[in-house]
Amino acid sequence: MSGPGLARRFAAPAENPQEARLTAVMTWPVAGPPSRGRARTITDPAAIEAALAELGVRYDRWPVRPEVPRGAPGDAVVDAYRTRVDQLIAAEGFVQVDVAALHPTDDPDFPARAAKARATFLAEHTHADDEVRFFAAGRGVFYLHIPHPTRGDEVHAVLCEAGDLLWVPAGTTHWFDMGTRPSFTAIRFFHDADGWVGAFTGDDIATRFPDFDALTGAVPATATTP
Ligand SMILES: [Fe+2]
Repeated sequence: MSGPGLARRFAAPAENPQEARLTAVMTWPVAGPPSRGRARTITDPAAIEAALAELGVRYDRWPVRPEVPRGAPGDAVVDAYRTRVDQLIAAEGFVQVDVAALHPTDDPDFPARAAKARATFLAEHTHADDEVRFFAAGRGVFYLHIPHPTRGDEVHAVLCEAGDLLWVPAGTTHWFDMGTRPSFTAIRFFHDADGWVGAFTGDDIATRFPDFDALTGAVPATATTP
């Protein structure tokens, strides 16, 4: 689902889209088809934090360590953010930390691997654990399906980019879209040693909202780098 208006909502305004700031929250009512006119978009970091806090969702920004290459091993990514990672573990009692990363390559198998990875998270689901992600590179969209006490049932698309820490509480109905050409590196924090376990709701709600490609204008990922 896309449209030219929606496609431009999160599109990078700067000459170099990889350097542009994209983090944003777009909110739609669930009732009725999403339309540009009914959406509410927030891009200011403080406003994003406040809006998400109202939903019980934590949001933070960490300084990006640009010296970490996109294809760096997971240990190297975690080490680059070691101080903040350790602080978060100590404060919140996480028992497992790992790195999920996918970046375009020239490998002919990449499109199939990308499609499979994307499909894993693309339908609405919940977790018994919090879903806590720090984006060290790239971007992805979390869709949070959370009723608002006065505005009613809503979906909030949170476009995360490098430097964003998003904390989705356990039990929140949500889905995640990495797009048709994924490019991201995310540190994942778990309270549960079993890691990522999703409980799918069976609702096809995700198909009724603009996807990652539509929201970002499908800005092409840059060619492969280490
Ligand atoms: Fe999830």
